[in-house]
Amino acid sequence: MIPKPTIPVPSKKILVVEDNDVIREGLAQHLQIDNYLVVQASNGNEALRVLEKFKPDLILSDINMPGKDGIELYAEVRKNPRLITVPFLFLTADNSPQSRRLGRELGVEDYLTKPINHQDLLSTINARLLRAAEVEVAHIGQAYLETVAVLVNAIEGRDPYTRGHVDRVTRYAVWMAEELRWPEEQIRMMEFGARLHDIGKIIIPDQVLNKQGKLTQEEWALMQQHPVAGEKILSGISHLQAVRPYVLYHHEHWDGTGYPEGLKQREIPIEARILAIIDVYDALSTERPYHPARPHDEVMQYIELQAGKYFDPDLVVVFQGVMKKRCTQGEKK
Ligand SMILES: [Fe+2]
Repeated sequence: MIPKPTIPVPSKKILVVEDNDVIREGLAQHLQIDNYLVVQASNGNEALRVLEKFKPDLILSDINMPGKDGIELYAEVRKNPRLITVPFLFLTADNSPQSRRLGRELGVEDYLTKPINHQDLLSTINARLLRAAEVEVAHIGQAYLETVAVLVNAIEGRDPYTRGHVDRVTRYAVWMAEELRWPEEQIRMMEFGARLHDIGKIIIPDQVLNKQGKLTQEEWALMQQHPVAGEKILSGISHLQAVRPYVLYHHEHWDGTGYPEGLKQREIPIEARILAIIDVYDALSTERPYHPARPHDEVMQYIELQAGKYFDPDLVVVFQGVMKKRCTQGEKK
């Protein structure tokens, strides 16, 4: 889970639009004392000029002003894609049901009625800023998922065996992370790591990737470059940094005979030690160009045999427990 934003945020910028100089100055002073950065405008037209160069975190505007009034200003602000998500609070002496209804119909976030109580002003502003921050965090979360989906499609489009493999490996990986009681954020990274572990196969030519039968020595050497290539791709994506160990080390072996670095035992990050077991389990239990699908029990026997050789023996025990539990619950595949 992405960390919750904290509020109040002292450096937030507020645009105060009010034609009455005394009220506007008073509001600005109060907000500055509370560490907000305040920019002032005395009517809608002036506010729009300010907004051409300045994007506030929140707009606080009077309704009745000479020239462009607050309602017209609001409509203009919402038409501008750059400002569409900026919270907008109305400040009004006019608390009539008609004007409240009009504001509500327009989608105005809130009203503050003059004279303004300082505490109400701060708590309303903070609540709106918090809401805006939560929406932004949700969008970032969505952006993570979309990036991962694009990358996964890039692999799956080329390798017909990858599609189901990626989905299943991801499912088993999440089961393992849950069994190990990892925190939610780590489980999420495990999910991304499982989805993206073979992203480096993008560099492998089709005739090698989809070759029926044994690879030549050169082809095999090329294939072995996929963890390093994948890690290189992800190194440029700031929000996927935590996924790099899954990609780089998922072919390392507990006894040091794996690649690319020949790491041993706990030198291998736990994320990759888990993924190594799951990757092999799924590869063996499903049909590939070079072998038929093997039955579950046979594959589990092989995994047990490799505990302490290819795989972390403690994690093999966890994997056996997970598969036993989930298979009995009928969740497998
Ligand atoms: Fe791989």
